[in-house]
Formats: sequence, structure tokens, C-alpha cells
Amino acid sequence: MRIDILTILPKLLEGPFSESIMKRAQEKGLLELYIHNIRDYSKNKHKKVDDEQYGGGAGMVMTIQPIADLIEKLTHERDYDEIIFMTPDGEILEQKTCNELSTKKNIIILCGHYKGIDERIREHLITKEISIGSYVLTGGELAACVLVDSIVRLIPGVLNDETSALTDSFQDNLLSPPVYTRPAEYNGWKVPNVLLSGNFKKIDEWREQKALERTKKRRPDLLK
Ligand code: ADE
Repeated sequence: MRIDILTILPKLLEGPFSESIMKRAQEKGLLELYIHNIRDYSKNKHKKVDDEQYGGGAGMVMTIQPIADLIEKLTHERDYDEIIFMTPDGEILEQKTCNELSTKKNIIILCGHYKGIDERIREHLITKEISIGSYVLTGGELAACVLVDSIVRLIPGVLNDETSALTDSFQDNLLSPPVYTRPAEYNGWKVPNVLLSGNFKKIDEWREQKALERTKKRRPDLLK
């Protein structure tokens, strides 16, 4: 899978993708990630990428030209399945969307800033708008990191134990059951006996029941 991220703050994105699983996904050739600096495409002599908004009001707006030129360059080179804009007024990201996006070949992710981007970019160039939650970040970069991480871990071969993505919370609309590791007792805190029993049928039943209990209590909306 190829992901192109468009940003005015490329450094913000470099760290999260140069560690651990995201780094390994790139080394294994399962993820091709390109981070593009929108400013490099500005035709303004001062490399400006924003301007005051028409009609007045506080806050700068990102201009069309550098973003449109960069998107045009990329779409000339290959077909993209989605051109996504990260924005607090987009559709709230859910596991279902992560699953769908993980099957795509090429996607572009645009990170917004300032007061927003010129609406005509959204109207004419963007195919999908995603929010990572009902709160406002200073820019789309951290949201883009969240989106990419949630997608890339679903690409077959990225996680060592492939079943581990299938047993994630949310994959079956249930939260995950609690997990434990050694020691079996710590300061009097005990691991549930059933997990030490070696009876895998009982263990599966216990996990299912705990997942259901936890979902009912914490996220009853998932069960509707
Ligand atoms: N940009 C600013 N806030 C955001 C959010 N909550 N989700 C996605 N992009 C954003």
C-alpha cells in the first residue's frame, strides 16, 4: 500500500513512522509512505501557503494553488483510491473505515491547518473527510498519524501474529477481554483460575463472557 501525506509540518510526521511496527512495515515493503511539504509547491515568492479569509474574520486559510498542484502531480503519476482530508467536521473514524482503507492500493491524506482550507479544495479534490474525534487539534498531522497507524496494522503481514488484529477490540463490535501474564499472583492479586486451568473451551467461554460484560458496561452503544 502507498500513502502520500500532504502537510506544512513534515517533521511532525517523521517520528511516528520511523519506529516499531510502522518502520518494519516499510522495511518489509508492505507500506510505501511519502511525506510531502506543501510549501515546496507554492508559487508565491515567499512560499506562502495561506491567506486572509474573504468576508473578514480571524484566522488564515490555506490557499488552493500549492495543494492543487501537488495533488495534480500525484494523480498524474498513479490512480488514487481516496484523497482524504483530516478535519474535525469529517466523519468520525471507526474500525469499519480502517478495515476498508486497509484494502486500498494508493491513498492521499491532506492535513489542514490554520482556520481551514479553501472550501473549493474540499469540493473539487477531496473524496473523503475524516475526524478522529469530537475535539479540535492544532492541525491534521496528529490525526493523520492516528489514521495511518490504524490502517497499516491491518495490512496482512504487518503484525507478526496475524490473528492479533482480528481479535482486536471493535472487530466484532466487542471490546477485548482482560489479559494477564506472569506471575500468577502479585502481592495477593490473583490471575483468574480459569486461565490457569488449561481447559481451552472454558477459557474461550470466559473470554467471550468478559468481553460482553465489559462492552455492556463501558460501550453499550456497540451492542445496538
Ligand atoms: N484536525 C483538527 N482536529 C481534528 C480532528 N479531531 N480530527 C481530524 N483532523 C483534525
